[in-house]
Formats: sequence, structure tokens, C-alpha cells
Amino acid sequence: MEFNSLEYRKKRFEKIFSNKKSKNYIGLINFKKLDAVIYEKLKEQCLDFIIASFDPKIKKINFLQNNDEKLKFINKNIGKLYSMTANGFIVPKSHSCKEYNALIKTFYGLFDTKELESVIKYWQEPLGICFKSYDNDRSSLEMSKSSRIYHQTSNAHIESWAGYSNFGINTLLPLFGDTTKNYTEFFEPKENYNDFEVNSANRKNLDQIKYKNYKEKPANPAFKNEYSCGNLICWDNCLLHRTKINDKKSYRIFIVNQFIPYLTRKESKANIISKYRKLGRLTHNILSSKKHFLKFSKINDRRFKSTLGGKRDAYNYNVIKLK
Ligand SMILES: [Fe+2]
Repeated sequence: MEFNSLEYRKKRFEKIFSNKKSKNYIGLINFKKLDAVIYEKLKEQCLDFIIASFDPKIKKINFLQNNDEKLKFINKNIGKLYSMTANGFIVPKSHSCKEYNALIKTFYGLFDTKELESVIKYWQEPLGICFKSYDNDRSSLEMSKSSRIYHQTSNAHIESWAGYSNFGINTLLPLFGDTTKNYTEFFEPKENYNDFEVNSANRKNLDQIKYKNYKEKPANPAFKNEYSCGNLICWDNCLLHRTKINDKKSYRIFIVNQFIPYLTRKESKANIISKYRKLGRLTHNILSSKKHFLKFSKINDRRFKSTLGGKRDAYNYNVIKLK
């Protein structure tokens, strides 16, 4: 079937990302430098969200004045952050609700461009706000105990193995940290790539399927220097990737999420998405309308819901319509 070929994937991707102000590489990944004012705003909103995520009992945080002070506090106290998953995702809670909504408004606003506005149907909520360091990306220890084929982000993976749509486009925006030592490593599909086969992988044949469908050497040299703070990165679901940390003392703070484009009827039939991920979808229209906000209730502050994405994914949120 046509959707299974690499050629189809590249054609679709290059049609979505046709803006000349951004750059496509290998037909599957796009980089766009953010406007300086918006970049600064996002950095501040991201730090404010993380600070608000700390247990409200830590009152000292109210005295933090600027980004440097906030960043220092976060790096020093990250181990005390109760709302962080095993993969480093900081889950929104009732006490970070206001800051979370401010941040997502700016983030989703990045996609209100002429090219993308009419292309994006859904996002997966909540957004991934991630603190990646060596300490919170513990190899494959837990992987061996799990029956899932996807667990830690340091194992090469694609998002559809964690239940996301195989037609999804991943977005990642590095905001702080050393992206030369702490980054994402990408592996290009081979010419004979078969999307159906790759998405039918199981624990037994995973290595074999990776070997058959993906090149062994990372594709990163093809887009050297593009993976940096302030550059918005988008890639097709079929691009294999993993977290790479070369310096144990390094860290990286970034925003990550997946959007699902409007699909043709034929694409819809070939679309694979888990029931958990289906429940987490919200339309781009709602998210960028500025007429809604996501509410995270106090009752869920200490709770985490288990989903395919990790053992402690976000708990439920409610969409509140503003009058
Ligand atoms: Fe990923």
C-alpha cells in the first residue's frame, strides 16, 4: 500500500513543511528558528511553569527574580520535584495550572502560520515539558522488566510504538542546556522502509525490524548545528530516534509534543492510534482559540495515571470554556 513507502512519507512531509523560511533535511525533519521575542517569552514561561510545579510547601521559590536564579534553583532541586515522570516529563498540576496555560498558549501559537494552521487537526495533551539529565534517563533497566517495546527515551524508538498516531508529526523545542552533549539522535529509514511492518513490531522481532528498516549510522551530521536552543524541530513519525547524553553532568530543558494532521479518507483507514492516546487528543482550534483553558484539579495532584507512555503519565484534565 502506498502509505507504507518512504517516498509517500517524504512527499507528505515536504508538502506540510513548504515554508521557505524553515529548512527540510532528508525529507523527514524540519528546523525553524524562532522569533527572538517569542523565544524569550517561551523561556520565561517554561521556567515559571517548572518553578510552580514544585511542591507549594517550598515557599522560597517566590523570591526567585530572573531566569538565571530560576534555572539554578531548578538544577539544584530537580530531585525534589514530585510531579516528574521517569522519563523527565513535568506533569501539570493544580498549583501549576495558570503557568501551564500561559505556556501552551504561546507554544501552540507558534503553529498559527499560514502553512500549518489549516494542516494541524489534533495535538496530544498535556504537552511534554521535559528536563533531561543523565540521572533521570536510566538506561534500559526497567525495559527488561516490561513487556512493552517502548519504555525509556534513550532506547531508539518511534512514537507510534507508544500508542501515538503513525501519521503524527513530532515537535521538539530545546530551550535550555547544552544541545551538543545532550540531544536527540536520529536514524534515517532505508529505501525499502515499510511503515506497516515497522508498526507491527513486537518485543521478539524489534531488533530485526530496526535493522531491516533503518540505517545504522545517525543522520545528525546531515543537519549539523540545527539542533539548538531556539530552533523548533518537527519530524515525521517514521524517523527513529533516541535521547543521547554524552556528558553525565549536562542537562536539557525542552518542550515536546505530537500533532496529527487532517488525514485523507485513505490515510484515516491506515491510521493506528491507541485508545489512551485517542482520549488525550485536543483540536488545534480549541488549543489556539484563547477561549479555553485546561484545568488540573487539586484532587489529582498526587495521582498519576498509567498509560502506554510511561508508568507515571499525567492525570486527567478538564477543558473549561471561557465566556
Ligand atoms: Fe520520541
